[in-house]
Amino acid sequence: MPRLVLLAHPAVRSAVAREVGRDIEYHERIESTQSRARELARDGATRGIVVADEQTAGRGTADRTWLAAKGTGLLASWIVRPAPAAPALFAALAGLAVARALDALGCDGARLKWPNDVELDGRKVAGVLAHGTSDGTGGSIVLGIGVNVHQRASDLPAEIRDTATSLAISSRPVDRLALLARITAELDRLADPSALIAARDEWQRRSSVIGESVDVTVPGRVSFTGTATSIDEEGALLVRAGTHVERIVAGEVRRRG
Ligand code: BTN
Repeated sequence: MPRLVLLAHPAVRSAVAREVGRDIEYHERIESTQSRARELARDGATRGIVVADEQTAGRGTADRTWLAAKGTGLLASWIVRPAPAAPALFAALAGLAVARALDALGCDGARLKWPNDVELDGRKVAGVLAHGTSDGTGGSIVLGIGVNVHQRASDLPAEIRDTATSLAISSRPVDRLALLARITAELDRLADPSALIAARDEWQRRSSVIGESVDVTVPGRVSFTGTATSIDEEGALLVRAGTHVERIVAGEVRRRG
């Protein structure tokens, strides 16, 4: 039996909650862990995690949906309150927490694609969605992370089969509960303000776009081509196009060639 579903049992859930230092709300099936965690955050929750074995309306970036067949993905949202000192950079670096967690579980080689994709073998294996609020009490961030763990190629929706992968497809079997605990530990490490600068350097070293020629698509603007040079202290991507440098806060980049 997959260990993640054991979170349905209160005794297991509280043991894991003690281990990771957070309340855990587990759902066999829910619309979206992100929507639920945002609701809890609005009601004042701190440090909780919402986890599901299946989502019926999983949310991705840019209003996309996040699809994962039941029992195949790690689908979880972390409430971080108060928000870390540099919330935008923290959110931008969250993919690094996933990559480090995968390393720790023997699945090395994950790379990062701005803004928030984690790639294995050049294909997307995980994505991060961040929602921040500022409410006069330090605000909160809700980080939703989806990792493709057990999917076979035929489980991936046809439209992403060429660009996505899973840990199973990449022959790196990982237990979802172990991954949940490790990502939580890595997010704690990232939330330490003194670790952020080194984390940004590591993000850049592990990036699949820094130093590369990329096509940039920004909502409401004509796409352009340039060379991705770095991310700044707010997690924005800097792209050199001709003689000037564009600062990209939201949008997508695609490696050329
Ligand atoms: C992306 O588009 O790359 C971000 C995907 C984030 C998906 C996760 S799955 C758990 C959490 N709940 C959601 O509805 N979305 C995030």
